[in-house]
Amino acid sequence: MTQLVHVDPNAPESSAIARAAAVLEQEGLVAFPTETVYGLGALALNPRAVARIYVAKGRPPTNPIIVHVADTEAAIDLVTVWPDTAAKLAKTFWPGPLTIVLPKRPEVPEIVTAGGETVGIRVPAHPVALRLLQVLGKPIAAPSANRSNQISPTSAEHVMAGLEGRIDMVLDGGLTKVGLESTVVELNGSQVRVLRPGMITAEQISAVLGTAVEQVDLKSDRPLASPGLHEKHYAPRARLECCDDSGLNRVRELRAQNVAVGWMPLAEEVQIPRSVMTDSKVETVPMPRYPAEYAELLYSILHAMDEAGVAHIVLQLPPRGAKWTAIHDRLARASF
Ligand code: TXA
Ligand code: MG
Repeated sequence: MTQLVHVDPNAPESSAIARAAAVLEQEGLVAFPTETVYGLGALALNPRAVARIYVAKGRPPTNPIIVHVADTEAAIDLVTVWPDTAAKLAKTFWPGPLTIVLPKRPEVPEIVTAGGETVGIRVPAHPVALRLLQVLGKPIAAPSANRSNQISPTSAEHVMAGLEGRIDMVLDGGLTKVGLESTVVELNGSQVRVLRPGMITAEQISAVLGTAVEQVDLKSDRPLASPGLHEKHYAPRARLECCDDSGLNRVRELRAQNVAVGWMPLAEEVQIPRSVMTDSKVETVPMPRYPAEYAELLYSILHAMDEAGVAHIVLQLPPRGAKWTAIHDRLARASF
């Protein structure tokens, strides 16, 4: 049984937070909202509790889990070094959607880091997540609260759809704001590498540090630094096809074959023809033209397309540019 507990996202009730903390203390699993997506939490320093995350998600044991902490001091407690670069990034971006990867202390169990020597840490910018971390007083290991290979949840309903009956509790704090997972940045001596792009861009990180930042090329065939990154991740059930144009012609082709279609053109890019508008087998959602709004909505709409039972999604690619990098990354993974 999964308990669904409502919580005010801006002023979380102490009773709800206390209940969630108690479940975690008993080595249970609690899904909770962060500013990016919902996380599936367990006591980070307790290998038995963390093992349950892998089981609930069906997650491969080679994919390390991000550790969430209440503040920078708690982050420093988990690592063997705290370089100047980390201090600058934490000061600028925490609480917020940036995960910093550094060498781990022995107290961080290998199951959290998938056997690796480094740990990814972040301070989330969401009142519910922060309050839970403060009340618990311990770090929380939390991947996104979805079954492995599915898209991340941006609402408690998405979490329940994937994990009901497999986890102990969901704190329902409504929709998440950023909508895409955090930027993952690895600090290795003077080398700074973005392992997973997010809404905090490599350019922003570079500006704060005053040094070059390498963006790991996901298409290169070098061994991957972030093991989870090469898997088919974040994919909806429907087949996602990205187009350089509005996609209208492709939608018409698919409809001629009687395929149920989801269509995601950019707003104001194309006049939606009446024949498409009145076709009950086409779900049309015009997408925002600004990256923050686009990111906030993307997963919700992909989830809704699956709910609606479309077999094929035709999406118009948004513009290129630094602020769109994370969105193009997720679209590429979802359209494998
Ligand atoms: O926004 C987020 O990051 C969300 C919320 C819940 O915080 N979490 C999230 O976790 O997206 P997950 O497990 O779905 O994705 C974590 C990514 C994976 O690609 C993993 O390989 C990488 O971060 N990662 C975690 N620890 C790492 C480490 N020590 N070294 C390299 N990559 C790491
Ligand atoms: Mg994930």
